[in-house]
Amino acid sequence: MKVKAAILEEIGAPWRISEIELGDPVAGELQVRLAASGLCHSDAHLASGASPVPFLPVVGGHEGAGVVTKVGPGVRGIAEGDHVVLAFIPACGTCPACASGLQNLCDEGAGLLTGQAIADGSYRVTKEGKPVIQMCLLGTFSPYVTVHQASVVKIEQDVPLDKAALLGCGVSTGWGSATEIGGTRPGDTVVVMGVGGVGINAVQGAKFAGARFVVAIDPVEFKRKKALELGATHAYSSMEEAAAELPDLTWGRLARTVIITVGEIKGEHIQQALGLTAKGGQVVVTGMGDFRDMNVDLNLFELTLLQKRVQGAVFGGVGPRTQIPKLLDLYRTGQLRLDELVTTTYRLEDINQGYQDMADGRNLRGVVVYSDADY
Ligand SMILES: NC(=O)c1ccc[n+]([C@@H]2O[C@H](COP(=O)([O-])OP(=O)(O)OC[C@H]3O[C@@H](n4cnc5c(N)ncnc54)[C@H](O)[C@@H]3O)[C@@H](O)[C@H]2O)c1
Ligand SMILES: [Zn+2]
Ligand SMILES: [Zn+2]
Repeated sequence: MKVKAAILEEIGAPWRISEIELGDPVAGELQVRLAASGLCHSDAHLASGASPVPFLPVVGGHEGAGVVTKVGPGVRGIAEGDHVVLAFIPACGTCPACASGLQNLCDEGAGLLTGQAIADGSYRVTKEGKPVIQMCLLGTFSPYVTVHQASVVKIEQDVPLDKAALLGCGVSTGWGSATEIGGTRPGDTVVVMGVGGVGINAVQGAKFAGARFVVAIDPVEFKRKKALELGATHAYSSMEEAAAELPDLTWGRLARTVIITVGEIKGEHIQQALGLTAKGGQVVVTGMGDFRDMNVDLNLFELTLLQKRVQGAVFGGVGPRTQIPKLLDLYRTGQLRLDELVTTTYRLEDINQGYQDMADGRNLRGVVVYSDADY
């Protein structure tokens, strides 16, 4: 069927609303009518050329939730009318990574930016007969998507879908960066560097896991205020400011975990984070940068002798099928806040304003909300 979508036709160009052709589900696939799509920084990386795709155009968006409208042959456990969250990482359940409990590292993730459907290697979205890549095999900047069941997590129907959408990327990633990969324990000091749609959930996760001090760092005052509202005990405008305060605060011990969730990570951020990390502690690298960037200067003496770790993290280190239902339970009991994360909602047509607002530091999370006018 023909649907509108925000597509990227050229690196550095704005998102353009255009008509695409969306294929029906083949074996193992579903079609979903989306309620909302979060505006994650990773789509800005796509637009800037920092994340590689084999060709353009791309239909952006990888943080969505909605209602199943069509079910292809061989789909198990999901029916038309079901509510689902689309996870930006597929989890097939049977590859060696999935089978060993590392569903966030599912082998199907290798095709994440290729646009080639898991089911058959072809393209489910086309424009004028030519293939269009679906960002993270999803492409949620369109009111309808056709996706593989590996990317779909069924949820209960009591949670508002426009909030559940955030679990497809930002919330799960940030929360897991503190609780799973970060392994926050009661009494820890945790630093979160960058309070956006991902970092704010690292703040929430660290608080939930029992951190004594949750230190949020962001140059934007509004972000620091939000961090303090949602669980941070301290907020600073720069790593330098934090470096001046943290020794006093922690009796010289510094932070057991420093989580980097800045929008565009650079090599120098690693040493800044290591400088705030305690002996035996770790830096969790969740933020992304340019895929060509190979440059990190860090103090090897400090790394070795203070036994510090630098740890990458995707989807917060935990599989979507485990994490998403668990986080929805915490939302129900008020222990995870979702409503407070959405600063501004947009129509798909205003998506470039949404990304401008992200760049200007105005949004904790911006969200595109779809309505009857879009379907
Ligand atoms: N690893 C994963 O699985 C995964 C998943 C989702 C997003 N990401 C990445 O996480 C990062 C954050 O995404 P987001 O959507 O939250 O972005 P965002 O733009 O909403 O938030 C980034 C925040 O970092 C702050 N910031 C920038 N430079 C800083 C600095 N030097 N010190 C402190 N704060 C600084 C900004 O003011 C902003 O508040 C992006 O790089 C994104 O691509 C990774
Ligand atoms: Zn994302
Ligand atoms: Zn797998």
